[in-house]
Amino acid sequence: MNILKAAKLSKKYSHPVSLTILKEINLEVAQGETVAIMGPSGVGKSTLLHILGTLEAPTDGELIIAGKSTQTTSNSQLRNQHIGFIFQNYNLLEEYTAMDNLMMPARIGRKKENLKRAHELLDRVNLLDRKDFLAKLLSGGEKQRLAIARALYNDPELILADEPTGNLDDEHSQNIHNLLLGAAKDFNKSLIVVTHNHDLAKLCDRQYLLRDGILV
Ligand SMILES: Nc1ncnc2c1ncn2[C@@H]1O[C@H](COP(=O)(O)OP(=O)(O)O)[C@@H](O)[C@H]1O
Ligand SMILES: [Mg+2]
Repeated sequence: MNILKAAKLSKKYSHPVSLTILKEINLEVAQGETVAIMGPSGVGKSTLLHILGTLEAPTDGELIIAGKSTQTTSNSQLRNQHIGFIFQNYNLLEEYTAMDNLMMPARIGRKKENLKRAHELLDRVNLLDRKDFLAKLLSGGEKQRLAIARALYNDPELILADEPTGNLDDEHSQNIHNLLLGAAKDFNKSLIVVTHNHDLAKLCDRQYLLRDGILV
């Protein structure tokens, strides 16, 4: 079953100048499949990932997540139930503890907090001893490990990651790559990851280059 299906997605900006970033994006991702998207800076990778994650609307085209059209389903509900996000700059709530950050998706979705699951995930990313630390006290690698655990917490079918190791050194990057791909494999998650890192791209089932507004 396809977890994500994008058909003829385009994105144009008209302000401050007319700009076509994405021309015709077609992409199908099956359950458990991992996909890397590469390409130079400014080519529209983040824009594409935001659109695939329903954080931004396409100018045209169709997007189906977990069998539901983004045109007819509440996008915030789609995101909360089906998608986990990982960003280059972590996007944690810095003044909250690791545990609070981890359970934020449950709170947003008004779901009962699952402490057992939280502990299992913190253990998986090797952060159990940091659970009561404020996020701002964590190192870059620790923050990204926490963000991975957070992305998994609601058990979404699809993980979207935008340059998850763009701010990390080689050693920490490798650790994050293993955690990401390991989680996708162990939990049968689909993963779309934007990256400049060839090692990470090679670990994925498919590799695309975003060029001139299409995926090649
Ligand atoms: N709201 C916007 N209005 C106009 N142009 C934008 C807007 N957001 C992004 N862009 C432009 O879209 C292009 C692609 O940006 P982005 O998706 O961030 O690229 P990448 O992630 O590949 O580096 C850039 O040239 C950027 O300036
Ligand atoms: Mg980007």
